[in-house]
Amino acid sequence: MGPFAANLLQDKVVLITGGATGLGRAMGEQFLRLGAKLAIASRREEVLKQAAEEMGDDGHEVFFQSCDVSDPAQIAALVDAVEERFGQIDVLVNNAAGNFISPTERLSPRAVDAVLGIVLHGTFYTTLEVGKRWIAKGHPGTMLNIATTYASSGSAFVVPSAAAKAGVLALTRSLAVEWARHGIRQVAIAPGPFPTEGAWTRLSPTPELEEKMRRRVPLGRVGAPEELAHLAAYLISDYAGYLNGEVVTIDGGEWLRGAGQFNDLLDVTDEQWDALAALTRKGK
Ligand code: HXC
Ligand code: NAP
Repeated sequence: MGPFAANLLQDKVVLITGGATGLGRAMGEQFLRLGAKLAIASRREEVLKQAAEEMGDDGHEVFFQSCDVSDPAQIAALVDAVEERFGQIDVLVNNAAGNFISPTERLSPRAVDAVLGIVLHGTFYTTLEVGKRWIAKGHPGTMLNIATTYASSGSAFVVPSAAAKAGVLALTRSLAVEWARHGIRQVAIAPGPFPTEGAWTRLSPTPELEEKMRRRVPLGRVGAPEELAHLAAYLISDYAGYLNGEVVTIDGGEWLRGAGQFNDLLDVTDEQWDALAALTRKGK
């Protein structure tokens, strides 16, 4: 529940792609606790089934259907099924993603397509399918896109993901303007490092890389999925009704740590600062 009233999302129907694992699951669990009706979709049926059973434990309603978001026909079938089950969709969370670290020159075209297909095309297709229906029915709604901090800065070694997530940001900001007249809000979250199995096995697969990741964060720790879920609950709630086109970063200050020209001075000791002060004071 955290900081919210138990009915914050009462009876809102939320569809989360990639909702059976990691951050998608954490968001789904939080939304259910706040009264939402939940639909989750991703490729692996068994994973979905188990997640839906576990999440539905307390009598919560969880619908699941296997869907590859890079295939528009499967998305149309998914949205049909969710509407049949719950009557409508109020919130779409574009959370499904694919990613791995690799020197870019080692990538095949298929590897590039695999990531762009899930992240950029998948997000666009679900947005289009749900958005067209909302507009046709005059039904207001909210779309929450899960981006990354490097969607703005770019990042070496995850270049298809960076390019795709940059596209997702452009989609968010463009439709925030174009579809606002239909009562459709667009918001996004840019997460820093959250140690989910899906991300860590592909992006931080050794203890050394994991420690490097943690050390980059000014707050000195990685994120907890519930922290992101709290933010997501607020963003999709009616209390965030005037937020549109905004991308909220939740990363312990990580990306700013990499950006400031003098930030590496964090490693300077007190004794070294004494010596530096003597050198840098005017007139000395
Ligand atoms: C180089 C790779 C590769 C790797 C796959 N490929 N993994 N190339 N390095 N590690 C290549 C394959 O050789 C193949 O090309 C092509 O990519 C497609 O591979 P498939 O396995 O057939 O693709 P598919 O089954 O569609 O799987 C997609 C995937 C996979 C992206 C490759 O990792 C996946 O399913 N991921 C979903 C979950 C996920 O990634 N979660 C992390 C999200 S975290 P060839 O030419 O050989 O056929 C995130 C942000 C994190 O997004 C930010 C952290 C701070
Ligand atoms: P995750 O557990 O691997 O989540 C990715 C989900 O996407 C999985 O449930 C996966 O399920 C689903 N998926 C992948 N390809 C799909 C496809 N073609 N169609 C439908 N679903 C598909 O990793 P996560 O860390 O929770 O990531 C969640 C989101 O947060 C992603 O958007 C990611 O980019 C973002 N993010 C994460 C971090 C982090 O540190 N964890 C940082 C920045 C951004 P299937 O394999 O069953 O399809």
